[in-house]
Amino acid sequence: MILVTGGAGFIGSNFVLDWLAQSDEPVLNLDALTYAGNLANLASLQGDARHTFVHGDICNRELIDQLLATHRPRAIVHFAAESHVDRSIHGPGAFMKTNVDGTFTLLEAARAYWQGLEGEAKAGFRFHHVSTDEVYGSLKPTDPPFAETNPYEPNSPYSASKAASDHLVRAWHHTYGLPVVTTNCSNNYGPYHFPEKLIPLMIVNALAGKPLPVYGDGQQIRDWLYVKDHCSGIRAVLAGGRLGETYNIGGWNEQANIDIVKIVCSLLDELRPDAAGPYSRLITYVTDRPGHDRRYAIDARKIEQELGWRPAETFQTGIRKTVEWYLANEAWVAEVQSGAYKDWLSTNYQAR
Ligand code: NAD
Ligand code: TYD
Repeated sequence: MILVTGGAGFIGSNFVLDWLAQSDEPVLNLDALTYAGNLANLASLQGDARHTFVHGDICNRELIDQLLATHRPRAIVHFAAESHVDRSIHGPGAFMKTNVDGTFTLLEAARAYWQGLEGEAKAGFRFHHVSTDEVYGSLKPTDPPFAETNPYEPNSPYSASKAASDHLVRAWHHTYGLPVVTTNCSNNYGPYHFPEKLIPLMIVNALAGKPLPVYGDGQQIRDWLYVKDHCSGIRAVLAGGRLGETYNIGGWNEQANIDIVKIVCSLLDELRPDAAGPYSRLITYVTDRPGHDRRYAIDARKIEQELGWRPAETFQTGIRKTVEWYLANEAWVAEVQSGAYKDWLSTNYQAR
């Protein structure tokens, strides 16, 4: 049994689905079901005894203690977080609460549980912390990609909160010996991605004939990885990563935002042509994000050399699968766009 936190979110739900597609080891899934958590992502697991869902908060120490004591997991894979940079600009408090305090609470509960284990169970226990490349800050055009040895230079409330959580995880290893591994991954894309993030937002706006809001000059660069490749990287590190080490995960795929938007538009032109004309007609440049990081890029040599991990998808294959998934899952999109989603759109885009 493994305990997954945040397993109803974008990456967590992909991870749980992949995990159970590849093994019969049960998953205990703890998720607070914030706006980003969605049990519809896990609908295919309904009635599957290998998956136990618990609706709860990682800040609730009593609940975590009780879950660990009852289910005795051999590992914790910690995804739960507030994850959207723009939301962190409008309201950083939730990021401090979940990403910092929540990780602290989970570490303390894990430490107490692990200290009570014995023999092989104690030696084999793992706390896997899922983090981001954004902790390293922003690269200049000619800088080499982020290595694990880069200094931490977070620039947004989101990345600062993730950096803080990474430091806590590191300290719990060095001070208490908690057997931890940390992965820092680049931007993910794929099925079940909430349409507040660049790629799914562009797909759903284009299909609705709405403007495609590109921040600033659109020349900011991100390093995109198909979500299932991130999941396989986490499995590799969980299985074979060295204790106390961090591993960068990335797809060697740097792209400027405007190019991403154009690629999405041309795939939609092919797969769902619009009589009104090419989707790129909807591209609209809007006011930039404050403190916007210019470039992220991951040097993924360590995970490849130590653990033999490489992404299975190229960007071409991954983005096509992603656009096809959104076209085939319009009911999922309609459901996540109901309710509070509209409030977010007006908070983030109306005054831009
Ligand atoms: P997401 O926002 O889609 O999902 C987060 C999940 O955590 C949701 O299901 C939410 O309900 C849950 N959650 C939030 N607060 C909680 C709390 N207090 N207690 C329990 N559950 C809570 O995020 P994501 O994109 O799936 O990211 C997952 C993890 O991966 C995060 O830690 C993020 O920092 C990291 N990461 C994301 C990316 C990316 O491109 N999305 C890249 C690298 C790393
Ligand atoms: P996002 O998906 O929010 O991920 P992150 O900020 O964590 O990298 O944004 C990816 C890039 O796309 C980022 O440079 C900001 C930009 N962006 C836009 O240009 N327009 C948008 O509407 C959004 C949501 C993002």
